[in-house]
Amino acid sequence: MTMCSVMEQILDLARWAPSGDNTQPWRFEILGERHLVVQGFDTRDQVVYDLQGRASQLALGGLLETLEIAAQGRGWRCEIRRREDLPETQPTFDVKFSDTLAEPHPLEAVIRTRVTNRRAFSRRPLGLQERSALEASVGAGYRVVWLDGKVMLRHMARLLFANAGIRLTTPEAYEVHKVIIEWDSQFSQDRIPDQAVGLDPVALRLMRWAMQSWGRVDFLNRYLGGTLLPRLQLDVWPALNCAAHFVIVAEGLLQTVDDYVAGGRAMQRFWLTATHLGLQFQPEMTPLIFASYIYNNVAFSRTPRSLEQARRLTNALESLIGEEACRQAVYLGRVGFGSAPTARSLRLPLDRLILSVSTEP
Ligand SMILES: Cc1cc2nc3c(=O)[nH]c(=O)nc-3n(C[C@H](O)[C@H](O)[C@H](O)COP(=O)(O)O)c2cc1C
Repeated sequence: MTMCSVMEQILDLARWAPSGDNTQPWRFEILGERHLVVQGFDTRDQVVYDLQGRASQLALGGLLETLEIAAQGRGWRCEIRRREDLPETQPTFDVKFSDTLAEPHPLEAVIRTRVTNRRAFSRRPLGLQERSALEASVGAGYRVVWLDGKVMLRHMARLLFANAGIRLTTPEAYEVHKVIIEWDSQFSQDRIPDQAVGLDPVALRLMRWAMQSWGRVDFLNRYLGGTLLPRLQLDVWPALNCAAHFVIVAEGLLQTVDDYVAGGRAMQRFWLTATHLGLQFQPEMTPLIFASYIYNNVAFSRTPRSLEQARRLTNALESLIGEEACRQAVYLGRVGFGSAPTARSLRLPLDRLILSVSTEP
């Protein structure tokens, strides 16, 4: 086995890290036997959920965490440095590998099985063991706020219903949804297959028809209560059917690229730990994204109504978890017992992610 193929094995596992809408905002440059450059980018010019690049930076953190776990299994440790001379839109990292005697990481085994599940889970609550393993997984500098029990699940269902109202009636969000779904698919290398979205076949057909044009979406929304069916299936039902919703909260405000990358590492440790415990997982990031736009005065839509709705949503979230936790939140999602989804996003093949390989020592 050559040294280069060890690097490729590590990258082949690391590429299974999650990213918003499966955008995979990373490319790799192999500069030497033990020197890798991770070239990050963001989707702020196309994606209303990534206007400040934060979702992509979280994903990059998840990638680096996964890379480190995968490397450990090959007897390598990583030293990772972000290049500070580059603009925020290109978070770029030098990764230098050296030998370690550490045993393979216990989470390595679930890197490939970790998945987003947008369906209903069992309502069986988390046990003490699951709860404390998840709380420990995020590491120093983060804590986990749980939203569970019947009453809280109902509050979350209401909040996510309101949140979906924004997602489904904001024209800028339509532009995103239109391109991220791969239709008639169980798997997708670079998007989300329609079968993993969480709708039943009838609702899917309706959505596919509507999403041909904003005019159709708008017509459905205005006259036929078009958002009701997807909101019930995509938001309310899953929100009520899970063990708990959770928020990963940082010790302080997240301000820099590094803060978000570190937050993404905590997200991935939590997600992999959940998978290791046999739990299903779905991120519910858009309420946090809208809240961050409100806090940072980002006018994410040309529709004043959407901005007003986001303001009200932020107030509702603050009343559930407190203003401090809301401002310092890294990640929101839900977990629960259940079976793994049969449809899922795949990843771009490694040869499309590796831009160049240099054989210099
Ligand atoms: C920062 C971030 C935000 C995400 N937000 C959401 C979300 O709000 N809702 C959702 O269903 N999935 C969300 N996802 C999950 C991605 O869509 C998913 O990771 C990607 O499509 C790859 O699929 P996989 O996780 O099944 O491998 C998010 C993932 C990341 C990393």
